[in-house]
Amino acid sequence: MRGVSFISLAVLLLLATLQEVRSHGDQPLAKIDIRRSTLALHASAYVNASPAILGLKGQTTEWVTLEFSSPNPSVDDWIGVFSPSNFSASTCPEENPRVYTPLLCTAPIKYQYANYSSPKYKDTGKGNLKLQLINQRSDFSFALFSGGLSNPKLVAVSNQIAFANPNAPVYPRLAQGKEWNEMTVTWTSGYGINDAEPFVEWGRKGGDHVHSPAGTLTFDRNSMCGAPARTVGWRDPGFIHTSFLKELWPNAVYTYKVGHLLVNGTYIWGEKHQFRASPYPGQNSLQRVVIFGDMGKDEADGSNEYNNFQRGSLNTTRELIRDLKNIDIILHIGDICYANGYLSQWDQFTAQVEPIASTVPYMIASGNHERDWPGTGSFYGNMDSGGECGVLAETMFYVPAENRAKFWVTSLLLETKDLEQRPRTATLKQKEECKRQWYSTDYGMFRFCIADTEHDWREGTEQYKFIEHCLASVDRQKQPWLIFLAHRVLGYSSGTSYAVEGSFEEPMGRESLQSLWQKYKVDIAVYGHVHNYERTCPIYQNICTNKEKHYYKGTLNGTIHVVAGGGGASLSPFTTVQTTWSFYRDFDYGFIKLTAFDHSNLLFEYKKSRDGKVYDSFRISRDYKDILACTVDSCPSMTLAS
Ligand SMILES: *[C@@H]1O[C@H](CO)[C@@H](O)[C@H](O)[C@H]1NC(C)=O
Ligand SMILES: *[C@@H]1O[C@H](CO)[C@@H](O)[C@H](O)[C@H]1NC(C)=O
Ligand SMILES: *[C@@H]1O[C@H](CO)[C@@H](O)[C@H](O)[C@H]1NC(C)=O
Ligand SMILES: *[C@@H]1O[C@H](CO)[C@@H](O)[C@H](O)[C@H]1NC(C)=O
Ligand SMILES: *[C@@H]1O[C@H](CO)[C@@H](O)[C@H](O)[C@H]1NC(C)=O
Ligand SMILES: [Fe+2]
Repeated sequence: MRGVSFISLAVLLLLATLQEVRSHGDQPLAKIDIRRSTLALHASAYVNASPAILGLKGQTTEWVTLEFSSPNPSVDDWIGVFSPSNFSASTCPEENPRVYTPLLCTAPIKYQYANYSSPKYKDTGKGNLKLQLINQRSDFSFALFSGGLSNPKLVAVSNQIAFANPNAPVYPRLAQGKEWNEMTVTWTSGYGINDAEPFVEWGRKGGDHVHSPAGTLTFDRNSMCGAPARTVGWRDPGFIHTSFLKELWPNAVYTYKVGHLLVNGTYIWGEKHQFRASPYPGQNSLQRVVIFGDMGKDEADGSNEYNNFQRGSLNTTRELIRDLKNIDIILHIGDICYANGYLSQWDQFTAQVEPIASTVPYMIASGNHERDWPGTGSFYGNMDSGGECGVLAETMFYVPAENRAKFWVTSLLLETKDLEQRPRTATLKQKEECKRQWYSTDYGMFRFCIADTEHDWREGTEQYKFIEHCLASVDRQKQPWLIFLAHRVLGYSSGTSYAVEGSFEEPMGRESLQSLWQKYKVDIAVYGHVHNYERTCPIYQNICTNKEKHYYKGTLNGTIHVVAGGGGASLSPFTTVQTTWSFYRDFDYGFIKLTAFDHSNLLFEYKKSRDGKVYDSFRISRDYKDILACTVDSCPSMTLAS
């Protein structure tokens, strides 16, 4: 009985949705085949989901149990998770080769085969499944399909379930501000500026707390550049808030929680977290940095998603959480979550990294899977961003890029109170400028210069000027550890994709930059994009400048190039070609950790994600005079500060 009434409700909802879609015409792909969608619905088929209300104790993640039955089971039946619950079950043609099956006009958040926990399903027609859901600002339904992924036919739809407060503020993420003593907190909620005032309550641990206001951003379907982000992958992003916590005391521990003050005077709170403020630039204290690229996200319940190839991601996340007390800052250098236009996966990613990003600054760089889209000003005209063209990455994570301010003002549907003073529409040129995500950030004795490989970096470009300024303006006596970061391999990689080019680099990668790295004595350059680990000798113009492998005393005479793209996305093979400069290669998931003990001693470690153990390492031990020493093409020493 229950099952039947749910189905008729589902059919009604479905029809209502279809009509709405037609009347508004906001889903251009929705060529609805009602007959096909509804005929497969079977009176004795059902899906029951429980519990009906999630997060009663304020949790943002919960497990649900499904029980389902079909009178005509087959081996490729599957269950799709939908949110909002009132989805369209019609199939839509692909518009972008990166759109994978199932091609429903509303993409499921994730899906699982009906036999996953019930191997006898294809004989008995009965099954059950446990799924983990996160709070994503809307309710959920679960639908049983036959016909496999490529020709889905709706058999039954479940009851709807929801989090107690779907709008709750969730997944806070920290990032360094533009000043060394500023931390930014960014989070997601279902509260727009007309519903509530967003803020952060924060202060020294055990001391007085204050409220700091937050800005609010959102965007609509028209901000997306193409399919699937604009079509089947679109999902309302809710509201993204950022607050700036200023004038922090170096290394002091702060506690904070995000909140919203509703118009009726009620406060809605996020969870309490704490972080340690960044050290003063040049400060001598223990400083530990983790760097990796290409991590992505994966489902703890084993279910499948679009672009389902980041199986190493949960191991990396687990090991980072395990070692979190010994990590001060994280740099995720591009290919953040591989949502590739399926917007709900940004929520999945921010939920996955919440324990990390809510505790230490989580700094991102732009990768092809965030930014690239034809005709939008990206250096490459491919479709790797799935139509996101950088908007999701720029909105979901804060970076202290100079162009960010312009971006905030003009590129999005900006929701601030002094809107009158700000231009409402941006020119195309402004929009493109705002998507340039290069920036520099200091952490104590470290200076990081973070390039954006999805925009031109060659001599004569604005980015080249930025890179030179970033490298030249650091005072190496105070900040001896100079690190260059980028997504694509501008330096050296033996990955097959780069080896076939014969130059072992992104085309035109190092030609203009290597003289800068040499002149300004960059110690280490780290890249992602190639999904493995590799370390070179200190090198300049293809020649090792130092033959030592594990302990560098005095000058390096070149830069050590590292690929750390094994964050979690499917691994990339190496060429069998041997080079003189490649010191260590690992075809596995992992990340690197830099530990600065003081101004003279740095430890580099490569750890595997499977066990968190160190598999490659080296030390640098040197004095300021070693940095000043002349080497090939770097005489005399050229820092603006000196
Ligand atoms: C379906 O969900 C969308 C998004 O939440 C909502 O705008 C719409 O009103 C819903 N339609 C029905 C029929 O419930
Ligand atoms: C479960 O379903 C998948 C997908 O159709 C199929 O590949 C697999 O063989 C099935 N397993 C069993 C035990 O039937
Ligand atoms: C204020 O509004 C919220 C959300 O609508 C509601 O849950 C709460 O009970 C209201 N509080 C008061 C005091 O009216
Ligand atoms: C994740 O780590 C476990 C050991 O903790 C290992 O067995 C498994 O193979 C790893 N997964 C991947 C994809 O590397
Ligand atoms: C670095 O280069 C200088 C000048 O070419 C040379 O004298 C020195 O031996 C080199 N150091 C190492 C460690 O190779
Ligand atoms: Fe990439």
